[in-house]
Amino acid sequence: LILCAAILLVAYLLGSIPTGYTAAKLLKGIDIREHGSGSTGATNVLRTLGKGPGFLVLVVDTLKGVLAIALVRWSFIAANQNIIPANVNLATWLPWMVALAGIAAILGHSKSIWLGFTGGKSVATSLGVLLAMSWQVGLSTAAVFGLVLAISRIVSLSSIAGAIAVSLLMLVLGQPLPYLLFAIAAGIYVIMRHRSNIQRLLAGTEPKMGQKIPTTE
Ligand code: G3P
Repeated sequence: LILCAAILLVAYLLGSIPTGYTAAKLLKGIDIREHGSGSTGATNVLRTLGKGPGFLVLVVDTLKGVLAIALVRWSFIAANQNIIPANVNLATWLPWMVALAGIAAILGHSKSIWLGFTGGKSVATSLGVLLAMSWQVGLSTAAVFGLVLAISRIVSLSSIAGAIAVSLLMLVLGQPLPYLLFAIAAGIYVIMRHRSNIQRLLAGTEPKMGQKIPTTE
């Protein structure tokens, strides 16, 4: 139990690493939360700082999710050899811990302990978690995102489409129950994080990728 709590804490702290905020501070000396959508995610970094920083933040934020899941697997392998009593079946616990650590990482990204519990919208970190959970689901979700982005050029709409598709993909690709539950919870959470985007989408004022938002939220 202590091992599980420690894993979740580290997963949350990994997610909390304020990539976009730090990039904006270092490169331009600004608080990214006062610009564009106010998000610290890659989309807002792209909008505010340009393509290079946007891409970098996207990669690092995705890696945070991958690492959080890798951490669970490494810890379980290490624990298996040493401290766990024989009656505890780690193989049963593993997918549940993977799912919980995924949630911890995406919560960390959007409610970072270093940023007064603010942050991004957890799209890139969720993608990283998915890729590490099941690369088939991760790539298929990314494909849905990419398709909607190619057609609409609107990142938030593409993220919402991915968040809806991910649970279906888990089902279709026959993934274990904890992964499906992760997909449902993360999907709902990511959509909730896009409330202001949904309002702009409905009002027809959501900017296309890289474009500015007229007023800061
Ligand atoms: O990944 C976040 C994206 O879906 C929306 O970001 O900055 O346009 O609100 P933003």
